Formats: sequence, C-alpha cells, structure tokens
Amino acid sequence: MSLSRLAAAIHPSVTLQLNSTAARLKAAGEPIVHLGGGEPTSKAPPAALEAAQKLLATGEIRYGPEDGILPLKQAICEYTKTWYHRDITPDNVCVSAGSKQAVMVCMQSILDPGDELIILAPYWASYSEMVRVCGAEPIILAPDTNLQPSLDRVKAAVNGRTRGVLLNSPNNPSGVVYTREFVAELVRFCESRGLYLMVDDIYQRLLFDGRKPLSVFEFSTAKQDDTKIIVFNGVSKAYAMTGFRIGWGIANPTLRKAMGAIQGQQTSGPSALGQAAAIGALRGPQESVQALCDELQTHRESLVAGLRAIPNVIVTPPDGAFYCFPDFSAHQRDSVKLAQFLLEKVKVVTVPGSAFGLEGHLRISTCGSMKDVIEGAARIRWALDKSGSREYVSGSVKFTRDW
Ligand SMILES: Cc1ncc(COP(=O)(O)O)c(C=O)c1O
Repeated sequence: MSLSRLAAAIHPSVTLQLNSTAARLKAAGEPIVHLGGGEPTSKAPPAALEAAQKLLATGEIRYGPEDGILPLKQAICEYTKTWYHRDITPDNVCVSAGSKQAVMVCMQSILDPGDELIILAPYWASYSEMVRVCGAEPIILAPDTNLQPSLDRVKAAVNGRTRGVLLNSPNNPSGVVYTREFVAELVRFCESRGLYLMVDDIYQRLLFDGRKPLSVFEFSTAKQDDTKIIVFNGVSKAYAMTGFRIGWGIANPTLRKAMGAIQGQQTSGPSALGQAAAIGALRGPQESVQALCDELQTHRESLVAGLRAIPNVIVTPPDGAFYCFPDFSAHQRDSVKLAQFLLEKVKVVTVPGSAFGLEGHLRISTCGSMKDVIEGAARIRWALDKSGSREYVSGSVKFTRDW
C-alpha cells in the first residue's frame, strides 16, 4: 500500500505499544509485572468528577472555542500565578487535548522543514517524532554525569537552523530534576540568542524530598507579550486525569493564536467534558497532589533499594515524576534485547532506553502498586544476578533459570 513519506517516517509510540502488549499478556494469564507505565493509578479528584457530571447532566455537550473555554483559561491564569508567580491573561493560554497536543501545535507553529530543535537526552520518546512530523530535525544531545544536561553542548549545537531548545524537568524517563543553575543559564542563553525555549512542565509538581516547583520565568527578562518561552502543563499526571486529555501551553499572544488556529483545523478544540473536569481539578482541593507525591516517593525508595542490590547497575535516584532510568550496560548494552529478555524470562515490562535516546538504560516506572515495584525489582535482580538460586519463587509464580 502506498503511504505518505510522513507516515513511513514516523515511529509509533513505544510506551503505548508496550501498554497494549502488557495488557494482552496479562489477559492471557501471564504473571506480568508492569513497570512500563506512565500514569498514576489513583483516582481523579472528586471535584473534577463532580464538575464533569454537572455538565453531563445538562445533556448539552457542545463545541467550544478552538483554544479552550474562558473559565478554564482563567483557572489556568490563576494556576500560573500560584505555581509560576507569573501574571498572564487568557490571551496567553492555548488549551489542548493533553499537553502533548499543545507541544505538537507549538512545534508546528515555530518549525519549518529543515529547522532544528535541540532535545536533551534522555528525552520523552515522542519529542523526536513530533519534530519529524514538522519536517524538522531533532538534535539530540547526550547528558553529562548523573543524567544532567550540559550547557556547553547546547551552546556548541546552536547554528543558523536552530529554532529552539526543549526542556523537561522533572524528566521523563529519568525522574531527574535539572539543576537551578542549568535552567537559569539556559533561559539567559536562549533569550540572548533569540531562541525559543519549550518547557514541558507536566511533572512540575511531582517532586520528592521537599523540593519546590521551579518557575522558568524567574530567570527571564522578556515580557509575556513577546517572550519566546512556552510552558506546557496539564491535569494528566498531577491530578491522575490522563484520560480526560486536557493540557495547555502558555505563550506570547501571537504564538498562542497560531497554535489555536492549527489546533482548530485538527480537532476543532479540546473536549468540553474534559475542560469542565479540568476546572474542577484546578479550583478544587489540592491534597491529592501531595498524596500522590508522598506515595511516589515511597515507591522510589523501594525501587532504588531493589535496583542498587543488583551488581553493576548504576542508579541515579529520581528527584520526581514516576520514573527511574538505571544503567544496565554492564549486563547488556542493547536495551531492546534486555527489555525483551526481562519480559520473556521474568514477565517484567520495562521500556528500552533506546526509545529515550540513551542505550544501555531501561525506564522503570514507580506509578504502579508498591507490590509490583518490589516484586519487579526482585525479579530483575534474580534474572541478572546469576550467582543466585536456580529457581525464583514468589507466591504462585515460579521461574527456572535456563540461561
Ligand atoms: C514529558 C511528557 N510530556 C507530556 C506528556 C503528555 O501528557 P498529556 O497527557 O498531558 O498529553 C507526557 C506523558 O507521558 C510526558 O511524559
């Protein structure tokens, strides 16, 4: 069959594919431990559900403006004041079907074919494909020690085709928070060179060890009406509302208008029901966000302890988000082979580091149950540490070593 060049060039989402593989194997009765996910298992906040139910009860669920309804934009302005200490107006807000769509329409608004966007590895697997959807080129930069990015590499990578830099901290897949110094210098560098800075803050509030959310605007001297910083956030992760598909981008009014126009031709605008729920979440009680952080931090402790018990695995403890990105190179440098091995031999789902631009690593999630985190780490340890017993037994599960 003949497909477009674009369709032939774009890879499907690795994580979404893995989710369906894990679900299929589980349904077939396999004792799967799914450490590949990227969404909380907690419930959406009651205030979000009540707001959605109230709209549903009217029976009138209609089209709205292409870039979001005013009450949600106003709630996002208040949210931005609270979490970024930044005064913005609804004219700066583009509400989208998840922050993913906001990132996509932003890229489509600023990138032409042949342009380059700098992405810091390890990076969320979708970024590179999204840049390619625009016909542009992702320029992937390797990290320094402890999975922290290098400003010198960013400076060296900039050329006449560079349109901007993409920043994601807390980071998917590493859970690492970039240093304040790096973020400050990157903002100053981008502003001094007239580059866009796309800031994916979807995990901004999911922090451990008492860390406080960072506002990138703190280091900016540009006015909101002509800033080249775009901040993305949404209700998916902090409020456990992935299926509602509501996120947003904060941009200067010209860029926001362009994002809205492109989105209007793609989907006509975000879902009315999702937007009602998002207002409920943003304006309602906020305790659930802290409760989620506390739970994730406890999971992090167990996962890091379990992984550190495996000989020759390098673990950089996450500072936030749902993920850990240990280096298994001493065991197997080919991360796809390693992920397949763990799935086949001990039924543990992980995501290969190659999907995130860094071989030798696996992304391991902490957003499942504590039982799964502990059991998953124990199975990985047994599979890789051949000095252990020939059999692994846990409850009704038994594996026998044939390698
Ligand atoms: C770094 C990052 N950005 C954006 C998203 C997409 O989130 P949303 O559900 O708001 O589209 C994800 C989801 O996994 C993510 O990890």
